[in-house]
Amino acid sequence: MPLHQLERRVGVGRQGASGTKRLFVTQRLFEDTVPAAFAGSSVQVDIRDADEPLRPVELSAHLAGYHGVVCQLTDRLDGSVLEANPQLEVVSNVAVGVDNIDLAAAARLQITVTNTPDVLTETTADLAIALMLAVARRVPEADSFLRRGSWSAWKLSPSLMGTDLYGKTLGLFGMGRIGNAVARRAVHGFGMHLLYASRSPLPSEQERALGATRVDLDELLGAADVVSLHAPLTRETRHVLGAAEFAAMKPSAILINTARGALVDESALAEALAGGQIWGAGLDVFEREPEVSPRLLAVAERLVLTPHVGSATLDTRRRMADVAVRDARAVLEGRPPAHPVST
Ligand code: DGY
Repeated sequence: MPLHQLERRVGVGRQGASGTKRLFVTQRLFEDTVPAAFAGSSVQVDIRDADEPLRPVELSAHLAGYHGVVCQLTDRLDGSVLEANPQLEVVSNVAVGVDNIDLAAAARLQITVTNTPDVLTETTADLAIALMLAVARRVPEADSFLRRGSWSAWKLSPSLMGTDLYGKTLGLFGMGRIGNAVARRAVHGFGMHLLYASRSPLPSEQERALGATRVDLDELLGAADVVSLHAPLTRETRHVLGAAEFAAMKPSAILINTARGALVDESALAEALAGGQIWGAGLDVFEREPEVSPRLLAVAERLVLTPHVGSATLDTRRRMADVAVRDARAVLEGRPPAHPVST
C-alpha cells in the first residue's frame, strides 16, 4: 500500500501554505495526543497509521519535505537517514533511550534530538523490582506448576525453593534517574544494601540516605546478590556483561536488565545460566528485539522474560507520547524543547 494511504493529517492552521512546518509521526500515537498538543499550531502533522517501523531506506525517502519527526525506539534513524534529510530540525524520540538515533550525525547536521526522561522513571523502576521478585521467588514457575496440576501437597522443601531479597546486596550498573528509583525501592522497601558503578558519584547526602557505596564494576559483580542494569546503550556499554563478567559473579546472583538488551552478551548469558554460573535472570530487553535467543528460551528455570514493557502503563505511555510531540512542536515553533539530548 502506498505510504500516503497510511497517513492521517492532523495539522491545523494554514495547511500547505508556503513556510508551513511539517512534522511526520512515524507510528500511531494515542488518538488525542497530537490534537491536544498541537491546538492552535500552524504546524502540519502527518501521522502514519501503523504500529510497526518503516525500514530505514523507506523512512529516509519518506522524510523528504518534513522539518521534524516523532519516532519510536523501533525506528532506526541512522546516519544515512539523517544525512539524506538535512532539512530536519528535530528528531523527537518517544523513549528515554536514544540508541536508535545516530547522535553524532544529528549533531553534525544541527538536528535537535529530544527524548522522554522523567515520565517513565518510576514505572520502569517498578518493573525492575517486579522482575527481581519474580525471579527470586520463582513466581511464573510457581504459577505454571499449579496450573498444570503438579501441586500435590504443601512441602517444607518444595522443588520451587526461592531466595530472599531482604538483607541482600543490590549492585546497580548506572545510577541515573531509573537506577535511583530502583535504589530507593530496594533500600527502603526491601532492606537491601546498595553498591553502584557509575561514571559520576551521587551527591554525598544521597549516598548517605541510601547507604550506597560507589565501586568499580569488577567489585560490584563479585559482591552483588542482584545486579541490575540501568545504563544507556553506547559504544562503551555494549556487551558490558559477557562471559568473563558472568564468571566473576556469585553463583547465587540474579541479573536484571530493563535497560537495553545489547548491554549483555546474550549467548554468554544463556551459557552462564545453563552452566549455573549465576542463579537466575529477569530480562525485559533483548539484543535483537523482538527476537529472543532460542538458547535463552530453552532455559526453563529462574529466568523470567518480558517483552520490553518497562514503561508500559497507560499513564506513562500517554505521558511519553505527549512529552515527545510537545518537544517537536517547541522546536518547530522556534522555542527550546524541554528535553533536548546532548549530542
Ligand atoms: C525507553 O524509553 O527507552 C524505554 O526502553 C521504553 O520503555
